[in-house]
Amino acid sequence: MKDYLSQLDPGNIPAHVAIIMDGNGRWAKKKSLPRLEGHRRGAEVVEAVADAAARVGIRYLSLFAFSTENWNRPREEVRGLWELLELFFQSHIRKIDEKGVRVLFSGVFKGIPSSTRKVIEETLGRTAKNNRITLNFCVNYGGRQEVLEGVNIWLKKRKEGELLTEKKMASLLWNPSLPDVDLMIRTSGEYRISNFMLWRLAYAELVFMNVLWPDFRASHLYRALYDYQKRERRFGGL
Ligand code: IPE
Ligand code: IPE
Ligand code: MG
Repeated sequence: MKDYLSQLDPGNIPAHVAIIMDGNGRWAKKKSLPRLEGHRRGAEVVEAVADAAARVGIRYLSLFAFSTENWNRPREEVRGLWELLELFFQSHIRKIDEKGVRVLFSGVFKGIPSSTRKVIEETLGRTAKNNRITLNFCVNYGGRQEVLEGVNIWLKKRKEGELLTEKKMASLLWNPSLPDVDLMIRTSGEYRISNFMLWRLAYAELVFMNVLWPDFRASHLYRALYDYQKRERRFGGL
């Protein structure tokens, strides 16, 4: 692939990049391997992509790892995914911390096996003060749920006649310190949002790539950033 890294404008790096890591199952199928092997190889890609993101100065990287709709998959696959996630955090927690990465969790803890939840919580606590880059893991995440939960919390405390504003709504989302998404990347050649980051995607640039997630490399991220830098963001203005 062309060397896109050297062509990037360091003054125009998106602050928040969000990735829908899709295509693990199809990657496995192509190789006549079980779907879980695709997920395992997909998990192995995450570290290099996070390193590449930190290297070019991305401040926030959100990664879609499990959607609230993914419960509709066969029980064995779901169970395998939780085991894999648990293993991922167990084996990476030290390195993540040493690299100065802060980890956030966006999603619903309820439903996630308690051993998986425990290691996620441990990672959150251990990396809370790091600031090289923020990795926001979207796990058991649903964009509609995120907005609804915020609205419902607000409704309970609402004063008579008070109305929600955009600013207030943004502060009610999970991890309100996360800014709007500047660039959303989806792999695997599917052209949809699949309930990801609905509120924060409002003015994101969308890049869809025809690569299955386990084949995704730093060079693909640079390519997406290169495309992003060619876009003209108008935000409704001229
Ligand atoms: C993405 O890969 C990972 C998760 C949704 C957990 P998929 O499992 O969706 O892979 P495909 O889309 O079936 O190829
Ligand atoms: C979206 O991928 C969720 C994750 C990547 C974790 P899916 O594979 O679940 O989305 P659909 O079903 O193709 O829309
Ligand atoms: Mg998929």
